Amino acid sequence: CFTTLALCSSLFSGFLHASECDPGERVVKFSHVTGGTTHPKVILINEFAANVNREMNGRLCVEVYPNSTLFGDSKELEALLLGDVQLLAPSIAKFGAFTDKYAVFDLPFLFKDLDQIIRFTKTPEAKDLLHVMEDSAGFVGLGYWMSGMKYFTANKPLLVPSDAKGLKIRVQSSTIAKEMIRAMGASPQVIAFSEVYGALQTGVVDGQENTWSNIYTQKFYEVQDSVTETNHQVLAYLFVTSADFLNSLSDEDRTQFLDLVDRATQSANKLVKEKDAVNRENILRAGGKINTLTPEQRAEWVNTMAPIWKEFEGSIGKDLIETAAGA
Ligand code: LMR
Repeated sequence: CFTTLALCSSLFSGFLHASECDPGERVVKFSHVTGGTTHPKVILINEFAANVNREMNGRLCVEVYPNSTLFGDSKELEALLLGDVQLLAPSIAKFGAFTDKYAVFDLPFLFKDLDQIIRFTKTPEAKDLLHVMEDSAGFVGLGYWMSGMKYFTANKPLLVPSDAKGLKIRVQSSTIAKEMIRAMGASPQVIAFSEVYGALQTGVVDGQENTWSNIYTQKFYEVQDSVTETNHQVLAYLFVTSADFLNSLSDEDRTQFLDLVDRATQSANKLVKEKDAVNRENILRAGGKINTLTPEQRAEWVNTMAPIWKEFEGSIGKDLIETAAGA
């Protein structure tokens, strides 16, 4: 079935129906919340699915469900626990209920750029973190993928943090993100990704923070005044499965599957900067506005968020923060 799958995945951003898997193939559901055709996560997941479906044809058949069509933010981790889905790649900020350690990926202004975080993901400390939820939840991290650096958008220009005073800002379910918004004098609102466009459009929230790729593919620029190039955090993904799924594969299939997984992560790290930059250009071409910061304005953002590090140092661990900062 692999030709049809590859064709479908390029035409419809990877939305595949169960009927397209051959009888006897083990169906592997991969659910995610992003969409469009230019998002690095969409491109990568579709490529990964096409590779598995070609190279493990007759044994495994990956079905991709983008755009929260199978499970959205609030349900996908529960679905992985229940075995209703086998593969996910959520933002690492969404695992706060399972471990404190991943907050290291979320500390504002810790990672200067994507190169630094990619170097961090190759350290033994970051590799150990792939297994930090294995005993407690049965989740097995397969690799770290990046979406890009994050930027604030709002219905007015945000040049310094105090410009957000009194605004309602959408965040992912992350304690650090909530603290960041409070430090700006604004009110954090946790909203599922699939509902953010509508919430911005109807004024339920005034702003949000995200990567070029999400701002472009979700069209947030249409319902916001502008994007401010704050570069305040990274949006990193955890490519994740369950121990139950991995253990259910034969030794031979597991080895081949994990090899395909590693190839996808290597490809993710190589492609992301270029793909993210394309989406920055796409925003401008579509009429979106981008505010750049003077060094003084940038210093205000850094100073406003600096106290957050101290607050999370105990639960993350000082050594881990130092490894990330020095990567
Ligand atoms: C968000 O919720 O803003 C992002 O995590 C969505 C994504 O998966 O990129």
